[in-house]
Parts: sequence; structure tokens; C-alpha cells
Amino acid sequence: MLTNEFQSKVAIVTGGARGIGKSITRALAEHGAQVIIADIDAEAAEKTCQELSTRGLVARAIPVDTADSGQVNRMVEEVVGHYHRVDILVNNAGISPKKDGKKIPIVEMPLEQWERVIAVNLHGCFYCAQACARHMIKQRYGKMVNMSSSAGKTYSSIPGSHYLTSKAGVIGLTRALAGELAPYGINVNAVAPGRIETEMIHDVPPEVNQEIIRQIPVGRCGTPQDVTEAVLFLLSDKANFITGVTLDVNGGKQMF
Ligand SMILES: NC(=O)c1ccc[n+]([C@@H]2O[C@H](COP(=O)([O-])OP(=O)(O)OC[C@H]3O[C@@H](n4cnc5c(N)ncnc54)[C@H](O)[C@@H]3O)[C@@H](O)[C@H]2O)c1
Repeated sequence: MLTNEFQSKVAIVTGGARGIGKSITRALAEHGAQVIIADIDAEAAEKTCQELSTRGLVARAIPVDTADSGQVNRMVEEVVGHYHRVDILVNNAGISPKKDGKKIPIVEMPLEQWERVIAVNLHGCFYCAQACARHMIKQRYGKMVNMSSSAGKTYSSIPGSHYLTSKAGVIGLTRALAGELAPYGINVNAVAPGRIETEMIHDVPPEVNQEIIRQIPVGRCGTPQDVTEAVLFLLSDKANFITGVTLDVNGGKQMF
């Protein structure tokens, strides 16, 4: 349904070209926001913008590797140069490399891969938050949602140690930013999805996915839309008194 809930808000969605980020991008555009897809995959980001335009929705793609602070700062300056503000940041870009669909054991973990996952999943969130906070503090308004994972709250045997560590770090970063930025009218929260049907889980063997689904009380994988609903709530003014929380979206798989 089209509403004007986010009318005139300027929103950056990292990793907005596909999966969960694409769903969030579409929903924000449907509710009136000016959305910028900040994704490393320029082609996929353009394709998403085109798909949205066929439905009368507008999004703009700015290619960026969120693990590169220089690229992030330039992307945010371009956004603010064009729209004169940035109201919403969804720190969604993330990677979860595996080996033949399985966790990479700690003793085999290539250092470059450890560093890349921490750089994209954790440093990238910090770079984007820092660059946006500079403007949100002046505006005295901002909403940030960081994408963690249930793997950041408890042990999971599927992603590697780099992923678990990065997603636990996102929860810590969320709390730090929430406390520091609250006096400026900026809310910072996180979402911790469980198993969500996107390309990220397609490298896991089907029998492993089936076993995981068996353990989910709701009896199915989540969808990008399930996560989007939680993110939209946290970005909305209905959640003005909520900051520093990590909202679980996992079908009851873990009840923390
Ligand atoms: N799918 C799940 O089961 C699940 C569960 C918990 C958390 N998450 C988290 O949700 C987020 C989205 O996951 P998804 O399943 O939609 O993944 P996905 O792989 O389908 O999409 C990720 C998007 O991020 C982009 N991206 C990757 N590296 C980037 C970088 N360095 N800079 C900018 N963009 C980059 C990709 O191009 C892609 O568009 C991730 O942070 C992921 O860790 C996913």
C-alpha cells in the first residue's frame, strides 16, 4: 500500500540492490521516501532502480564499497549535496562467505577473508553511521537501523567466526551510537534476522536449510518482507522512544 509515512525523508539503504535491502528500498519508496541504493554491485542496483521505476517508484543508485571509508564519505556527501539532508540510514550491506556451503573452521580461516568480513559487516556500518551522523546531528533528526543477525547473539554452526563476530559487533556499535546520539534526536536500533530466504542462504545445501526450518517454531524461513516490516517500524516516528534495541525477527528460533 502506498502511504506518505516517509514523505520527503531522504534514506540511504546500503546493500539495497537485492535481498533484504531491496525489499526495504521498495517499501521506503512506496511510503514516499527518496531512496538511495548504496551497493557495491552497480549493475544490480541500476536494475532495482529500473524495476521500481516501472511501478512509478523512484530510487537512485550510488555504487559504493561500504568497507572503504573514502567511498562512503563521498557517497554521503553526494547525497547531502543533492538532497540537502539525510534522514534515514539502513546499514544493511553484509557478506557471509562459506566453503562449499559450510562454515570455514577457525584453523583454516584465511586472514584476508576474516578482515574482509569484519570490514564490510562492521567497519562499513561504522563508516556509514559516522558520515551520516555528521549531518543528522546538525539536523537534530535521524533514524538508523543496523542489520545484525541472530548469529550475532548466539552461536550458529553455519556462518564462520568472522560473521558471528561482525554481527555481535554491530549490536555493540548500535548501543554505543544510540546512547551518544540520542540527545540529538537520532534513534539507532538493530534488527537480528534469523533464516531469511535470500541469495545469501543459497550456497547452503538444501538438506541443511530443511533441518534449520524444522527447528523454527513458525515452521518456515523468514522473507525479506518480514524483516522489512520490523525495519520500517524502527524507522518510523512510532518508535521515537525506542533506541539501542536489537529486534529479533526469527520465527521463534531463538528467544533471547
Ligand atoms: N539472509 C539471511 O538469512 C540473513 C540472516 C541474518 C542477517 N542477514 C543480514 O541481512 C543483510 C542482507 O542480507 P541478504 O540476505 O539480503 O544478502 P544478499 O547477499 O542477498 O544481499 C546483500 C547485498 O549487499 C551488497 N553488498 C555486499 N557487500 C557490499 C559492500 N562491501 N558494499 C556495498 N554493498 C555490498 C550486495 O551487492 C547485495 O546487494 C546482511 O547484512 C546479512 O548479513 C541475512
